[in-house]
Amino acid sequence: MLLQKGYTYYRWIMNKGLFITFEGGEGSGKSTVIQQVKQQLLDKQLDVFITREPGGSGIGEEIRQTLLKHENTNMDPLTESYLFAAARRQHLMECIVPKLAADVVVLCDRYVDSSIVYQGYARGIGVEQVAAINKVVIEDYVPQLTFFIDVSPEVALARIQTGRDQNRLDVETAAFHQKVYEGYMLLAAQTPRIKRIEGDQPVEQVVADIMKYINEYLHG
Ligand code: TMP
Repeated sequence: MLLQKGYTYYRWIMNKGLFITFEGGEGSGKSTVIQQVKQQLLDKQLDVFITREPGGSGIGEEIRQTLLKHENTNMDPLTESYLFAAARRQHLMECIVPKLAADVVVLCDRYVDSSIVYQGYARGIGVEQVAAINKVVIEDYVPQLTFFIDVSPEVALARIQTGRDQNRLDVETAAFHQKVYEGYMLLAAQTPRIKRIEGDQPVEQVVADIMKYINEYLHG
């Protein structure tokens, strides 16, 4: 069992705004998809705010530099978990909560599920331990919807090798990326909030699949 009791503690108490997160391995195409989802929500006259983890705030971006810097090869896995959690807390309090309170739709590229999968599962710290660290950090701020963009690690890695500068986590072994993928598949299968979206299709179709869930949520 990937997740045990950690996640079931979380309760949803926010009654304003809409908090949507996007997950997936490197090269899954999240950024493009998020931009297009934003446009569709703007067309519905909704206020939309896009942000990303780790980062999103001055302090969060500073922690991001430390986390993703190539030279930091000696970073202890638990240190890594706490740094992601610290960045998350700052970003949540500084950027996300005020937007939700103002009734804005927040689209966030990665959130707590990234830590569960990357640190808890792929790094092997343990899903329970990472969930416990993050329970304190996120309190009840659980997204209403999370989209896991499912692109096989082989396809995704080929994309990042040609497409952009690589960071410390991008250059992990293929086995690590495979484990990340496996972690997402397991987590998505046992978490109703997480919708698995077929990522190996034209971006317009990926966005249409996502909008179907968002529309269902908005219109009951
Ligand atoms: P990205 O902005 O390109 O997605 O890079 C962020 C990297 O950090 C990516 O490899 C995933 C990783 N990550 C974690 O390992 N744990 C986390 O909690 C988060 C938010 C990201």
